[in-house]
Amino acid sequence: MMKISVCGKGGSGKSSIATLLANLARDRGYPVLVVDSDESNSGLYRMLGFDSPPIPLMDLLGGKKNVLRQMKSAPSRSESAQPLNVLARHEISIGDIPYPHILRRDGISLVCIGKILQSLEGCACPMGVLSREFLKKLRLKDSEMTIVDMEAGVEHFGRGVDTSIDEVLTVVEPSLESITLAERVNGLAAGSGVGNSWAVLNKVTSHEMESKLKEELDKRGIAVIGAIPYDPELFEACFEGRPPAGGNTAEQIGEVLDFLLARKSTVS
Ligand SMILES: Nc1ncnc2c1ncn2[C@@H]1O[C@H](COP(=O)(O)OP(=O)(O)OP(=O)(O)O)[C@@H](O)[C@H]1O
Ligand SMILES: [Mg+2]
Repeated sequence: MMKISVCGKGGSGKSSIATLLANLARDRGYPVLVVDSDESNSGLYRMLGFDSPPIPLMDLLGGKKNVLRQMKSAPSRSESAQPLNVLARHEISIGDIPYPHILRRDGISLVCIGKILQSLEGCACPMGVLSREFLKKLRLKDSEMTIVDMEAGVEHFGRGVDTSIDEVLTVVEPSLESITLAERVNGLAAGSGVGNSWAVLNKVTSHEMESKLKEELDKRGIAVIGAIPYDPELFEACFEGRPPAGGNTAEQIGEVLDFLLARKSTVS
């Protein structure tokens, strides 16, 4: 139905908001695929309540060197004849991805592109290629939603990861760096052909702060579709490596989800 990416400055709350959105969408009956596209951090699976992370999709391709060759390899006439190289197909459905490269739990599935594990292992470009090609080939059913937890910063735009994303969400915490980054994301999203780029405020502690942030973003031509309050429970859950309860932010996360769903119904 819809591919959403969650991006923003390091530590702004991308993984937390991706998790809360995924949980709420699932509660409302939408099957959700969460794509962990952050090659540095590894804790998303814990936030989502999984005991261990999925084996990265990168491993399906035999490592970083083989990414381009494998993703481009021509599928045989019968696509199902090559179940192992699912990533080489023209189209990938969520159901095609084999365990343990996808984990499923209570209506939420999780895949991970790849992680940098060793020093001197080279740059993360192949992960960007895999993220981009995977998201491009991913075909969603009507009710299915994909939420991509992006790496911090803007390099993913340079790598074209966002080209098949329907809605780009930028998480903005109360800092000038975060606002400035949102401005860059907004410009780069437009350059990638994604016209739908929105800011979600996070860690908001007062109405005054919310208004100030909105004003700054408005000046930069960025629409704000939600403001998530600072929630000590969310902070503690993250610190303890367990899923957040989400109760304190449910209303505001609900507004963000409602906005995205309403757009989907007017666009399609
Ligand atoms: N609304 C919130 N209230 C309180 N703490 C929050 C909130 N959102 C995020 N945090 C805290 O901020 C920290 C960073 O959050 P999170 O890991 O989600 O950010 P991130 O953008 O994914 O970071 P990274 O760039 O490292 O991947 C965590 O300690 C998290 O608990
Ligand atoms: Mg993160």
